[in-house]
Amino acid sequence: MQKDDLLRLLRDPNLLPSEKQTLLSNIAAQAAAMDMPCYVVGGFVRDLLLGKPVNDLDVIVEGDAIKFGKSLVKAFGGKLTTHDKFHTAIWHLPDTWHLIPDTLDLITARKETYLMPGALPTVTPSTIQDDLLRRDFTINSMAIRVDGGHFGELFDPLNGQADLEEGLVRILHPRSFIDDPTRIFRAVRYEARYSFNLEPSTLNLINSESLDVIPRLSGERIRHELDLIFEEKNSSQMILRAGEFGLFKMIHPSLSLFNPDYSDFLEMDSTLDIPSSKAEIGYMLWLMDSSEDEILSIGQRLDFTSDLTYSIWAVSQLKKSLPFLVGSTPSVWTYALEKLPLLSIYMVYLVSREDALLDFLSIWRHVKPHTTGNDLKSHGLQPGPRFGEILSQLRAAWLDGQVTNEIQEKELLAKLL
Ligand code: CTP
Repeated sequence: MQKDDLLRLLRDPNLLPSEKQTLLSNIAAQAAAMDMPCYVVGGFVRDLLLGKPVNDLDVIVEGDAIKFGKSLVKAFGGKLTTHDKFHTAIWHLPDTWHLIPDTLDLITARKETYLMPGALPTVTPSTIQDDLLRRDFTINSMAIRVDGGHFGELFDPLNGQADLEEGLVRILHPRSFIDDPTRIFRAVRYEARYSFNLEPSTLNLINSESLDVIPRLSGERIRHELDLIFEEKNSSQMILRAGEFGLFKMIHPSLSLFNPDYSDFLEMDSTLDIPSSKAEIGYMLWLMDSSEDEILSIGQRLDFTSDLTYSIWAVSQLKKSLPFLVGSTPSVWTYALEKLPLLSIYMVYLVSREDALLDFLSIWRHVKPHTTGNDLKSHGLQPGPRFGEILSQLRAAWLDGQVTNEIQEKELLAKLL
């Protein structure tokens, strides 16, 4: 791509919002003043060249990123968090800029060596060339230089542009997936996100040799990749594809394929006001037909929070007990559902379309008697277990339609006292 064309993309407010353009020029000016070659890299360049809006800026300098960060703070304000070991810094941008995200990663161009397959790499400062050569795919291995007169120079040593044009996800060297098998998950993500293909030799390298390294990855790293998949727009396509590659058995022997019958639910916006993340929904759908032991063991392997494991367990239990609940009165349903996470109930509704579950979520759970604990006290009753029993009997009467107004409730209360 010619420099002029690239400059046009960098100045297009539909691709890069004007406040981010200003941020980039400020960084560029500061780098020039320090005589430090400075680049934006990775997803920023990839998406810009694809003509897609970009948001996150990954900045790399050939030089000391921490020193560069300190000078940015001095010139523009904000704060800096530094990671000396990795020669990186996070610039917490000045509040008055109101930018989202409100932080920016500043990275020293580096070389990486993997001492062991699947281990985190050892990092040494180096050139932009080495930095691009350490990356995952050619489409992610391009940089745009921004300091001073160099603003808008594309650096593309692996011809990522050609692969972008042809729609190919290509790794940089044959050991890439062995060094870091999280890249297999990433390949699946890019393939479906952009409707690209895995370049044939890249596809061949998703084989037993690279899959065998997956068990060495920490649960947290694998879960992070799965979270990223579930957060994508085409997550169902990605999770089915990951299953085809045999990734799941390598994560945990009991981790089954994602049930394609449930895949539409991944893409759906919940109409009910239940707080949830797409990843939580994904794991619930994926594991709802697993046994209790499997859910606990997979939850441990993937480093789930105890809340997430419990919610998944609740989905599986409720789904199993559904045949026994069907035909029950609203008060029995409510009693059975009340202690379960709302999202778990909603997930079972989605796959079963059992109306009682929706009635519980939208109506029954909000039903309360008018009578309060204070009313019971004023009738001379001492607080104790009987209190709860009476209130729940009144509530059950409302739920089951035996009481439909306050007078009837008072009559029932008089009988119960
Ligand atoms: N990277 C890598 N190997 C990994 C993870 C990341 O080489 N296992 C490199 C890639 O070059 C990537 C960059 O680090 O471009 C930044 O990673 P990340 O922020 O995860 O990806 P983005 O490029 O921003 O892409 P996405 O849109 O998927 O977030």
